[in-house]
Order: sequence, then structure tokens, then C-alpha cells
Amino acid sequence: MFKTIEWKDNKVVMLDQTLLPNKVIYRKFINYNDVAKAIEDLLVRGAPAIGVAAAMGVALGVSRLKAKNITELKRGFKKITTRLARTRPTAVNLFWAIEKMTSVFEKALNDQKTIQQITKILIAEAKSLCREDVEINKRMGKNGAKLIKNNSTILTHCNAGALATAGYGTALGVIRAAVEAKKNIKVFADETRPILQGARLTAWELMEDNIDVTLITDNMAGYAMQQGLIDAVVVGTDRVAANGDVANKIGTYSVAVLAKAHNIPFYVAAPTSTIDEKIKHGKDIPIEERSPKEVTSVLGKHIAPNKVKVINPAFDVTPAKLVTAIITEDGVLKAPYTANIKKLFLNKNKG
Ligand code: MRU
Repeated sequence: MFKTIEWKDNKVVMLDQTLLPNKVIYRKFINYNDVAKAIEDLLVRGAPAIGVAAAMGVALGVSRLKAKNITELKRGFKKITTRLARTRPTAVNLFWAIEKMTSVFEKALNDQKTIQQITKILIAEAKSLCREDVEINKRMGKNGAKLIKNNSTILTHCNAGALATAGYGTALGVIRAAVEAKKNIKVFADETRPILQGARLTAWELMEDNIDVTLITDNMAGYAMQQGLIDAVVVGTDRVAANGDVANKIGTYSVAVLAKAHNIPFYVAAPTSTIDEKIKHGKDIPIEERSPKEVTSVLGKHIAPNKVKVINPAFDVTPAKLVTAIITEDGVLKAPYTANIKKLFLNKNKG
């Protein structure tokens, strides 16, 4: 199985997702600014993978700082985290991971650790976030697999797989766990314009795992449902609001509306790090607007008249009322979401 991201020989190594499925090329990073650029350019993408990349970017930046004293270290740390936090606004995992690294940094400062010790602590934390992400996905997968009936065909949108995480995947983790539980599962993958994560990434990683996948263009989802070809939808998410509204790749909302119209369950796989209790409603989730070029061209080929007006929101918000269940590593949440999300965090903070 390929590795999406890892810390190796004091470098960050990432699979270049912009080249998939045509080339499998790993890039080595020795500079935090290049890690930030890689997040912006979608070389690494998917909410949990962005979080791990940011944590490793912080550790990498600090390890190359050459700070002479704690004041320089603090100044450098602030510069690194500010740069990484500016990369992509929607996936809350980015900010969650930077906050984790910041609290570890502050504790180490309080404990009067040396610069060398602090660097080691930050590297260890980034590596552990990476390891934990895979464990969380496996737990989430097991919880979600129980909802998936034998002989089901699952529609998914974008890529919420091993490529979007440190490994195993969220939505594709649920599918992997159902397959591991010996269920007969087929997958339909939306191609996911404008950047084609479904065609380039989901189809590729499922085929690598010998999971039965059929690729469709985004506008075929309604047809597939109407023909009775889809039994359930499982998607990932970049941020869940406190009321259960879910931000995910542009086009997810259309799929949710179609699922509702055809009485098909619509499941969202979300590690608890993706739930943002500070955001009350989905309408307050910041939606990234990307370059119009992604819409006016396909894989570098221009397909629209010059100067045509374009919008390019990278994500949309699916209202909680269209979500059948949110699958987390700590259990499956159903409506009423506001109360059940609150309860989940109360129990988590107690435990
Ligand atoms: O723009 P991307 O490719 O980073 O968008 C990714 C998605 O929308 C995923 O569905 C989401 O991050 C969940 S990943 C486990």
C-alpha cells in the first residue's frame, strides 16, 4: 500500500497527488514554506492529510530554524504557523493540527526544555498525529461498516480515502472496513470536477486495493440513483458545524439532495477532529474560492471562451437535515445533531 505522507530522515515525504494516476512520484521537503505551497497546490489534499502535513510542516520549520535563543525560537514558531494557517481555509483539521502543535510547544516552553528538546518533542508529536490518524480511520471504518448492507453499491464523491488521510481513509475507510468484514461491496465514484479527485484519486486507490469501482461523471449521479444502482452514499467532510451541517467538496450538496429524493441513506464519515463546535451553522464555514483556471481548463487544456465569468467554490455545505448519520471514531451520530455532538464531546472530555 502506498504512503500519502511520512516523516523520514528529518524530511517530510509526500506522494505528489497532482500527478496521479499517471505517475507515482514522492517528493521530499526540507522547507516548511514548500510544505505550505504543496498544501495550496493540492500536492497533498483531503482534510486529515492537510492536518498531518501542517503538523509536519511546523516540526520541519522548527528543526531548520537555527534559533540562538528562546526569543528567536518563539518568533520563528509564530512565522511558521502563520504561514501554514494561511494555506487553505475550509478544512478545520489544518487549524486543529496547528493548535495541537502550538499547545505542545507552549507546554515544552513552560517546562523549560532546551531548543533541541523542543524540536524533538515537536517532531514526535507530528509523527504521532500521523500514526493516530490511521488508527482513528480504522475505528471509524468499523463503526461505519455496520451501516453498510451486504451486496451494496456505494456512491462516493471526491476522494476521502487513504490519499486524503495518513492512511486507510474516512469514507473509503468505511468501504474498506465493510470489504474486510467480507461484505460484497461495489463503489461508484463521481469524477468530481473541477480537479477530478474522484477520477484521478478514488478510482486509482480503490483499483490498487482490488475494490470494485465504476467511474461516472458528476451529472450521472441522478441517473444512477433513478436506475436503482446506488444503495447508499458515503462521503468525507472538511468541517462539520455544531448543528451537523457538513462542508465537503463542491457537488456533495447536489448528491445529498438527490439521495433524499431517491430515499437513499446519505452518510458522512468524520473524525472528531473535523467537527468544529465553535461554528454553529454551516453558513459560517469559510468556503475556499480557487483559481478560475480550474474551471476554464481540464488537466491543463483550455475548454472555455477567454474571459468568460467563472466562480470556483471548492466546497459546499450540506444541511444536517439531509444527513442520515455522521460516522466518527467514537460512534455513529444521528439527529438531533446539535445535542448529540454536544454529548459526544462531553463524554470525550470526561474520558
Ligand atoms: O480539495 P480537496 O481535495 O482537499 O477536498 C477534499 C474533500 O473534499 C474530502 O472529501 C474531505 O477533505 C474529506 S477527506 C477524508
